[in-house]
Amino acid sequence: MSKSLRMKIVVLGATGQTGLHLVNQALQQGHTVTAVVRNPAKITTHHENLKVVEADIFSAPSLTSHLKGQDVVMSCLGFQASFFSAVTGYTLSMTGVLSAMRENRVNRLITMTSWYTEPNSGTQSPYVIRFLLLPMIRSVLTNMYEMEQVLQKTEDINWTVVRPPGLKNLPASASEFMTHEGYFVPDVSGSSVARGDVARFMLSLLNSNAWLKKAVAITTK
Ligand SMILES: NC(=O)c1ccc[n+]([C@@H]2O[C@H](COP(=O)([O-])OP(=O)(O)OC[C@H]3O[C@@H](n4cnc5c(N)ncnc54)[C@H](OP(=O)(O)O)[C@@H]3O)[C@@H](O)[C@H]2O)c1
Repeated sequence: MSKSLRMKIVVLGATGQTGLHLVNQALQQGHTVTAVVRNPAKITTHHENLKVVEADIFSAPSLTSHLKGQDVVMSCLGFQASFFSAVTGYTLSMTGVLSAMRENRVNRLITMTSWYTEPNSGTQSPYVIRFLLLPMIRSVLTNMYEMEQVLQKTEDINWTVVRPPGLKNLPASASEFMTHEGYFVPDVSGSSVARGDVARFMLSLLNSNAWLKKAVAITTK
């Protein structure tokens, strides 16, 4: 296996539904994984190339030692909408992550957000998405968009934002990806993708320069 295929990957959100797929696929591909979590008991995978560490994703000092000598940070973090307060987790965690990356000269970041993060990007979407789903998750999308804006201005780190549509809890398929540099993939019938396929796409970026400093909407055929 060539050097580029064996990377040292820090995974944030590793206990989440997409994060677990990402960790398992990364290990299967021969990478070394540091899963940064708040509750190590949630990781039941055991592997010689997997290290599980506890850290505060909002704190650069807490993250920094775990990023030493790593090649890439991959984030599947998710923060839920609440009636009582705006979602801030995406931007607040990204501030700490970027700072810890700079401190350790880790130069590659791959993170996931969602289709329709930009406030007007859903105006052509199906009624149920436009009038029901998007208003329900607006606070999440807004903070994802704010995080994307922070990354757009980040020149010293090779970031990629992966925007999937609705997530299905299915493993990776062999389906072909459809990609679009925008807030959704136009002209596709369904609007959901397997979490395993999102992980598969994120890992495929390790071997490609195609989406450096770009945000890409994805789905599968
Ligand atoms: N649901 C959809 O249809 C959909 C569509 C497009 C995009 N997305 C986005 O895709 C991303 C991944 O989704 P998912 O369903 O795979 O996520 P998920 O299962 O909800 O997992 C979220 C992850 O974030 C971690 N996390 C949340 N708050 C944290 C905190 N304060 N400190 C440390 N870790 C924290 C969770 O840790 P714990 O396990 O410790 O809670 C978990 O590992 C999310 O950003 C989601 O909004 C979702």
